Formats: sequence, structure tokens, C-alpha cells
Amino acid sequence: MDFNLTDEQKDLRELAHNFAEKEIRKVAWEYDKDGTWPQEIIEKAWDVGLMNTHVPEEYGGPGLDFLSGCLIEEEFGWGCSGIGTSLAANGLAMTPVALGGSDEIKAKYLGMLTEEPKLASFCLTEPDAGSDVSGMKTTAVKKGDKWVLNGSKCFITNGQYADWYTVYAKTDKDAGHRGISAFVVPRDDTVIIDKKEDKLGQRASNTATVVFNETEIPADHLLGEENHGFKLAMMTLDRTRPGVAAMAVGIGRAAFEFAAEYSKERVQFGVPIAMHQAVAFMIADMATKVEAGRLLTWQSAALLDQGIRNTLACSHAKRFAADSAMEITVDAVQVYGGYGFIKEYPVEKLMRDAKIMQLYEGTSQIQRLVIAKEVLMGRSVDEPMAEAVRTQTEVAEKQTETAAATV
Ligand code: CAA
Repeated sequence: MDFNLTDEQKDLRELAHNFAEKEIRKVAWEYDKDGTWPQEIIEKAWDVGLMNTHVPEEYGGPGLDFLSGCLIEEEFGWGCSGIGTSLAANGLAMTPVALGGSDEIKAKYLGMLTEEPKLASFCLTEPDAGSDVSGMKTTAVKKGDKWVLNGSKCFITNGQYADWYTVYAKTDKDAGHRGISAFVVPRDDTVIIDKKEDKLGQRASNTATVVFNETEIPADHLLGEENHGFKLAMMTLDRTRPGVAAMAVGIGRAAFEFAAEYSKERVQFGVPIAMHQAVAFMIADMATKVEAGRLLTWQSAALLDQGIRNTLACSHAKRFAADSAMEITVDAVQVYGGYGFIKEYPVEKLMRDAKIMQLYEGTSQIQRLVIAKEVLMGRSVDEPMAEAVRTQTEVAEKQTETAAATV
């Protein structure tokens, strides 16, 4: 077991840290006030190569490993997780395309992200289908050589600014989770942005309702096999939850650093409050939670990099890091005392930002559900990753082969 980062990973972390410090942090509290959209930061991050990091080289991306992605996302979380979420959300949208798109679809849609600083969104959640994915109502109906989509997706990160969407829809209404398919959908006039949310935290990220109204897409925009979309969504979340966990570690680390510094400066009862054991122990617990969260996160990413199933590991990481970020930020406000409650001081923003980490990409309760299922099933920790998704081209080739063999 080797916890050392490679020289490339260290360089990347430094690049991401400097970017977070110089470009993100300096505006983070200002952008939080009005929920300012960080367009110029997106363009700068894209320019320096901190976006679309998992897009394979053949489609113009750097094809970075998952652990490297986590190093970047921790720094984004440290800088501002709202802006960081806007920067990282392409990763969530592109993963189903990378897993289930044909070469042509990958070239077109992944290429779009790497040729220009464009955005894409992942559309899974609906008003009546949050944790319960299979309760979705959006439909996709095959009409000739097209699919026609109808339905409404809510809480969509970057929804208002995306150029394309990965959309999950029912293709067999009576088949539960086995009746869902995934599609890549370019934005056109039939894609309507219905509502931009006014949020408690991560206010610089865009969260919108996206409505598909008789939206037509070519048949080859189906990702993976028809009715296999639920699995594709789960395989996607296995790959993106380590990054979310990393972002939560970054929020916790920022709050810990602020609280530790403040505890050395603030004097009460004649000594810096860090000298009071009640405060020192809070700081100690914060430090442990950051370290433990990071280790779980790195493990969940390293497994992916080794081609090993990380479902359990990423739920451990996401659950622990998100809950820790919440606890650390609440305690950071406590260390600041009354000042912690005032917007002039940095920690109340972190506390508001941390809350979403326990909600998006699977609530902490859903992570516990996954953990319980995995540990109770006694699944082996070194099981290989879920079988690769078959693209439409592969399905068609298989059908031709079978037909030829029958003849
Ligand atoms: N990899 C591959 N396949 C998987 C899998 C995984 N990790 N997890 C489940 N599956 C497969 C199962 O093998 C099973 O396959 P079969 O059909 O062959 O039997 C199928 O999927 C159903 O599995 P379960 O019975 O375990 O499904 P479930 O309904 O009991 O539970 C759940 C699933 C864990 C609750 C899941 O619905 C879930 O993760 N919900 C949370 C959804 C979520 O995270 N939403 C966040 C939206 S994204 C977001 O927040 C975006 C944003 O913009 C910030």
C-alpha cells in the first residue's frame, strides 16, 4: 500500500490549489451573496485544463485517473464548493456518454466539451423521483428513427447553461428500474429552462428545472442498451461519488483551517481559545475527520483506477466525508462563537455549503442503504467493476452476427 502521490499528481494538486486560491476563493464570498454565475472562472479553469479531466485523450481530454480527479475536486471544495460544483458537473454528465455512447457520439459530445468551455448536465432527478430513481415519469418513445422525450427534471446542476444533457427516461412504464433508458440530448427550442433555484448554499452554482417538451433526438442518441439506463446511472454515480466526497473533504478542510487559525488568535479568559481543551478537542476532531474522509475518498478512487468495483467504498467515502463536512463546519461556527453567525466571517458560508453534500448524488441515508446492502450481502471487496455497457453499435453488431449464424 502506497499513499504517495506521483510527481504528476503533486503538480496537478498544486495547480488546482493555486487556481482555487487565486481565482476561486478571492470571489467566493462575493459570488455567494447574489448567486453570481461564475462564467469567467469556468473559462479560466477550462483554459488551464482543470475541467473535463476524465475525458479520454482520443476525444481531446487529458484522460486523468480518478484519484487525480479527486485531488482537483478537494481543492475546488476548499476554494468554493459552489463554484467547484459548476466546474465539476461536466464529469457527471459525460460519464454515461463515455460508458454507453458509440464512437461517433463520444467524438461529438465529449469533443464539444474539450473544444470549447461548454457545459453539460446530468438529468436524473424529478419532482417525484429523487432517491427513488425508478419513480421517474419522463418518457422516451421511439417514433421511426427518432426518440421523442417528454418530462420535467429538477435540481439540475448547470441546467440553465448546458449545451447538452444526459437524460434518463422511461422506455417501458411497467418495468420499474428495468424500464429506464439513458439518452444524450442536445439543447434546442424544445428544451425549456423552467426555474432557477434560490438556494441555502453553493449559491454560485446553477440549479434549474429542465423541461423536455416533445424533444426529438436521433435513434443513435440512446446510451447503452434500451432499458439498461438505471444500471448506467448507478455505474455513473460509482464513478462520480469519489469526487463529491473529495469536494466535501475540501469544505471540511477549509472550515478546519479557519477555525484553527481563529482559535489561536481569539483570546478569552486571558489565553487564546485554542488553549482551552473544549476548543482544542473540537479542532482535533475536525483534523481527524478531514484525514479519515480523505483516506476513504482516495481508496474509493484508487479502486476505480485499478478496475475494482467501488460501490461500497464510494458510499463509505461520500457518506462519511459529507457528514463530516457538515459536522466540521457546524463546529467551526461554534469555535467562532457569535462571530461565526455573522456573514462578515467566513465559516457560515461553509456551513451552508456543506449541507448539500449530504443531499446531492445520493443522500447520506441512500449511502447507508447501499452500505447496508453491500455489507449484508457480504460482497467481496476485490470484485471487478460492473460489466462494461454495450453501446448501440455493439448491440447491432451482435444482432448481425446472430442473424448470420442462424442463416
Ligand atoms: N453498479 C451497477 N449496477 C448496479 C449498481 C451499481 N453500483 N447498483 C445497483 N445496480 C443494479 C443492481 O444490480 C440491480 O440490477 P438488476 O436489475 O439486474 O437486478 C439494479 O441496479 C437495481 O438495484 P437495486 O435493487 O439495488 O436498486 P434499488 O432500487 O433498491 O436502490 C438506490 C437503488 C441505491 C436507492 C438508487 O436508486 C440510488 O442510488 N438512489 C439515489 C439516486 C441519486 O443518487 N440521485 C442523485 C441524482 S444526481 C445529482 O444529485 C446531480 C446533481 O446535479 C448534483
